[in-house]
Amino acid sequence: MLEARDVTVVYEGTAVVDRVNLTLPEGPYGLGLIGESGSGKTTVARCLLGLVTPTHGTVLFRGADIGAMRQPGPYRRAVQIVVQDTEGALDPRMRIGTAITEVLRAHRMVPRGTERGRVAELLSDVGLSAEHAARYPHQLSGGQRQRAAIARALAVRPRFLVLDEPTSALDTVVQARILDLLHTLRTEHRLSLLLISHDLAVVEQLCRHVAVLHHGRIVDQGPLPDVLREPHHPATRSLRDAVPRLPP
Ligand SMILES: Nc1ncnc2c1ncn2[C@@H]1O[C@H](COP(=O)(O)OP(=O)(O)OP(=O)(O)O)[C@@H](O)[C@H]1O
Ligand SMILES: [Mg+2]
Repeated sequence: MLEARDVTVVYEGTAVVDRVNLTLPEGPYGLGLIGESGSGKTTVARCLLGLVTPTHGTVLFRGADIGAMRQPGPYRRAVQIVVQDTEGALDPRMRIGTAITEVLRAHRMVPRGTERGRVAELLSDVGLSAEHAARYPHQLSGGQRQRAAIARALAVRPRFLVLDEPTSALDTVVQARILDLLHTLRTEHRLSLLLISHDLAVVEQLCRHVAVLHHGRIVDQGPLPDVLREPHHPATRSLRDAVPRLPP
């Protein structure tokens, strides 16, 4: 279980994340985190990854405070993030295969000398082929780059995958394929997903539960159909109404 408990992050006197409570059970599971731009979604994600230390509150991994862990290795491997392609997820100067091999070595995931085979396996898991290993990120399409970023995240056999707008830079057809892939991977690898998006239509495809952030606070949370039927907050209503085919 990965848990944010009463997490607050203050920047320049403003609470951009305000007493947020979130629980990600062991997978397969999917929680959508939605909210308009600037509502604090990425900051929450960075807290869960241990990249931002909350001003107040704690993040717990399997019951242990991540800020006080003597051996953070298992947590670091278990929780991975995939960001939007436009945010330079992959090093432009590194071939895809090298980038994945580096992760395998840093975490000693496979015996030396077997990395190439494992890279091919990971690429195949995400619908790429072994020959993509020799390419640089700019030699792939946006959708292929996002697949490569997912393969790299999977290299450490994570339990929790935080996806920060993973498909926002892609057209709708490619977006749907990536969401399909995540759906399959979630089952195969028993992943628990936190899917961050400003688009309910994206969240709907992967998540049964949703939390709505507004000015750093969670204003609605629960099973997706319930939240859609009876939103507590106008922010939830406007996110819902932005998707025409959802019930008003
Ligand atoms: N390092 C920082 N220093 C100061 N303010 C920050 C910092 N990081 C984020 N913020 C502010 O915190 C607020 C929340 O930012 P965050 O990136 O979490 O929003 P978001 O919901 O991910 O937005 P978007 O949908 O545009 O990605 C914003 O007002 C942002 O300007
Ligand atoms: Mg963001």
